[in-house]
Amino acid sequence: MLVSAKEMLNKARQGKYAVGQFNINNLEWTKAILLTAQENNSPVILGVSEGAAKYMGGFDTVVGMVNGLLKGLNITVPVALHIDHGSYDGAIKAMEAGFSSIMFDGSHYPFEENIAKTKEIVELAHSKGISVEAEVGSIGGEEDGVVGAGEVADPQECKAISELGIDFLAAGIGNIHGKYPENWAGLNFEVLGKINEATGDMPLVLHGGSGIPEEMIKEAISLGVAKINVNTECQVVFAEATRKYIEEGKDLQGKGFDPRKLLAPGVDAIKECVKEKMELFGSINQA
Ligand code: 13P
Repeated sequence: MLVSAKEMLNKARQGKYAVGQFNINNLEWTKAILLTAQENNSPVILGVSEGAAKYMGGFDTVVGMVNGLLKGLNITVPVALHIDHGSYDGAIKAMEAGFSSIMFDGSHYPFEENIAKTKEIVELAHSKGISVEAEVGSIGGEEDGVVGAGEVADPQECKAISELGIDFLAAGIGNIHGKYPENWAGLNFEVLGKINEATGDMPLVLHGGSGIPEEMIKEAISLGVAKINVNTECQVVFAEATRKYIEEGKDLQGKGFDPRKLLAPGVDAIKECVKEKMELFGSINQA
């Protein structure tokens, strides 16, 4: 059964580790992540952007697929199904479809509007036992056509939004989605420290988890980060493994064109990537 992400993230924050949010794109992705979580006795959050949900046939398809896999694969570790960077309407629709966790990303609205809309979403979500992530200071890079400038959040705004009863908070600290440029300045730990002080024991969320060096991940966790989102790295290793299979001509040998064979190396690559992240984040055996 899907669970809200509230409890697993409060536990992570207290235990000084982070739970990974891995974004899903299809059945193979979802299966790979769920099996890795189960094999490593780790809690996990499945992230779904609105674009990915649309690609998979809508929120109902995603909920049906994930619930089916939890049952069919005997997944017993805590799993939250979370809408990633949800719009106001998207977040509401995802809740109606059966998502157990919601991100409402109002970071592109004027702050007062972000506050007002987040408050409404919190009331609705909590009446159904669904956890809520809010965002202050947009995350840089491009995701599903939404381009963020990569702001650094204002700790006082973080404090104000954290007092609305949200369950966890994404705050921009120089992190960006996608591959980091050569000249990236790194995470802004000074600001993260201030946000951590201003928001008490609120679990903080680090978006753009792909490609952040290990030491920075560890320092971020020590400063209150309890949820780390990873998408691009799984996409890159999946594509690399699939390319290798085809370049080696394996699809032309025997029944190598069978999608179950063709996609298997990519699935194994995702499993390996997810396991490495779970080790780094410290969530193994925390289910
Ligand atoms: P990456 O694609 O950079 O890993 O970011 C994922 C993310 O933050 C999803 O919200």
